[in-house]
This record gives sequence, structure tokens and C-alpha cells, in this order.
Amino acid sequence: MNKPKILVARAVFPETLARLQQHFDVEANQADEPWSAARLTDKLKGKVGALTTGSDRIDDTVLAACPSLRICANMAVGYNNFDINAMTARGVLATNAPDVLTETTADFGFALLMATARRMTESEHFLRAGHWTTWRYDMFAGVDVHGTTLGILGMGRIGQGIAKRGAHGFGMKVIYHNRSRLEPALEAECAARYVGKEELLRHADHLVLVLPYSAASHHSIGAAELARMKPTATLINIARGGIVDDAALALALRERRIAAAGLDVFEGEPRVHPDLLTVPNVVLTPHIASATIPTRLAMANLAADNLIGFLTQKKPLTPLNIEVLATK
Ligand code: GLV
Repeated sequence: MNKPKILVARAVFPETLARLQQHFDVEANQADEPWSAARLTDKLKGKVGALTTGSDRIDDTVLAACPSLRICANMAVGYNNFDINAMTARGVLATNAPDVLTETTADFGFALLMATARRMTESEHFLRAGHWTTWRYDMFAGVDVHGTTLGILGMGRIGQGIAKRGAHGFGMKVIYHNRSRLEPALEAECAARYVGKEELLRHADHLVLVLPYSAASHHSIGAAELARMKPTATLINIARGGIVDDAALALALRERRIAAAGLDVFEGEPRVHPDLLTVPNVVLTPHIASATIPTRLAMANLAADNLIGFLTQKKPLTPLNIEVLATK
């Protein structure tokens, strides 16, 4: 019997590919060639499933050209690369990869916060450039992390992981804002207090963004919000590009209206706003918050298991648009 045909749109671990090959006729992209939208669409034609990443856009134009497609399994917890409404309308299941990356991503959020507050990359560049000739009382003096107020915008699983690290590891006072307030038991576990967005902006010494991207969260942090923050505050974005207005942030950093920023995600990435590349008080990383080998393997395998579960037994592990399952 012919195996169902699937596409793996980007390079993945060989063991993930081997797992998929037991069940499917797999077209892979182990060379990790950057495919245009048209090329991706061509590759998806005749496939019933696809393993995608956050950089593979699946919208109605793609779906219309690929009527055999039944599932796209994202190797990411975020899924703003999917037009979920279009997928649901065309009966295509979407799955993501939650939970397996929570702690690793929270670790990274905290690392970026620390690096930003303590000016680690800026001082490393100074040292590597051979400028270190003497001790000076204020050389690369930053801001404290321990005992300060940690603000979190978006209090899902990753936000909660960051709150626990701050409260229990660094004695921070934690405040958060979210679409909905956490259950009291969860708030107590995170030692976090719910506040309005205004209070969050005004009181946070370190503001970490961990909310999903949507039209509603576009530019949640722009010039007006930055103006409300403390001049000594740091801003950390490990959520998605587009949640921050990067041009407004670069200007605020240049004018020292906030102390510093740490950014793992960018509007229009992998392009980075040129002004961010020239301000010194920002730590920049290339969207690597979930990047440890065990976590990336777990994400790839969860995406693979979603394809296997759905296409062989109609039982995906982490479906998003569950209404599609009722009609399949
Ligand atoms: C990474 O950004 C993810 O959404 O998993």
C-alpha cells in the first residue's frame, strides 16, 4: 500500500525524519533551502500533511492550491504563521508544540533579562575590541535584578515560569497583566499580583513580554507605552516580532528613555531594524529562546507525533482548531 505523502518544510533532526518515514512517504528539506511562498505551495501540492515552522506561512492562497492537505503540524508553540480561520474553513487541522519548551524558554527569558540588566554583550564587545585598559568605578554599571519589580505581559505557561524564577530565585516582586487573571492558586504559586497595563508599565523595573502575536497585540509596546516606563527600566521581548514597535524602541533606547532592552524576536525577522543594530544598550539574539538540543528535539518529535497521531488514528496530541476533528 502506498504511504500517505507528507512534506517536512525545514531541516529537522535525522531521528525525527526516520520516525516520520516509518509511516509516510516524506519529502524533506534537509538542505534547509529557503523556499518562497510559491515554492512552498508547489511542494505542498499532493501532500496530506506538513511539518512546518514559524517561518512557513500557511494562508488561504496556499490552502486553495493544495486541496489534499489535511494537517499542518507546527514545530513551535506560537502559530501566527497559520491563518487558523482559513484552515478551519477548509477543514485543515492545525497543531502546535506547547509545554515541551516552557522551562527552556523561561530560562532564556531570564538569561536575556540578566544579560540586558548587566550589560553583558556590550561589555564583552568592549573587551574583545581591546578597549579594556583599566578599572573604573562605573564601568558597565547596570541595573539590579534581585529585589526589583518584575513585570510580565502575557501570563501563559512561559510567563509563569519566568515569574517563578524571579520571585523564588531572585526575591523579585512580580506583577503581571494578561487577558484573563490567573486562578488564585496559580497566582500564589507564581507569587504574582495582577495589575492593569498602565500600572505594569509604570512600576516594572524589568518588563518581560510573553504574549501571543495577533492583530490585537500588534505594537502593544510603542512610543506611548515606552514613555510610561521608568528611565531605569529594561524591556525584554521573547514573544514575537510586531508586539513591539521596533523603530519606536530604537529611538527610546538611543534617547535613554529606558535603560536597555533584550530582544530575541523582531518585526519582519530575520531582518532587524537597522537602528537597533547601532544602539549600544540592547542585547540582540536570533530567535533562539527554545534552542537547546533536548527541547528542539522534543518540539520536532511532538510535531511528528501530531502528524502520525492524526493521519494514522485521527488522534492528534495538541490540536488547535478542534472543530476540524468533528468533521473528519
Ligand atoms: C517559538 O518562537 C515558538 O513559538 O515556539
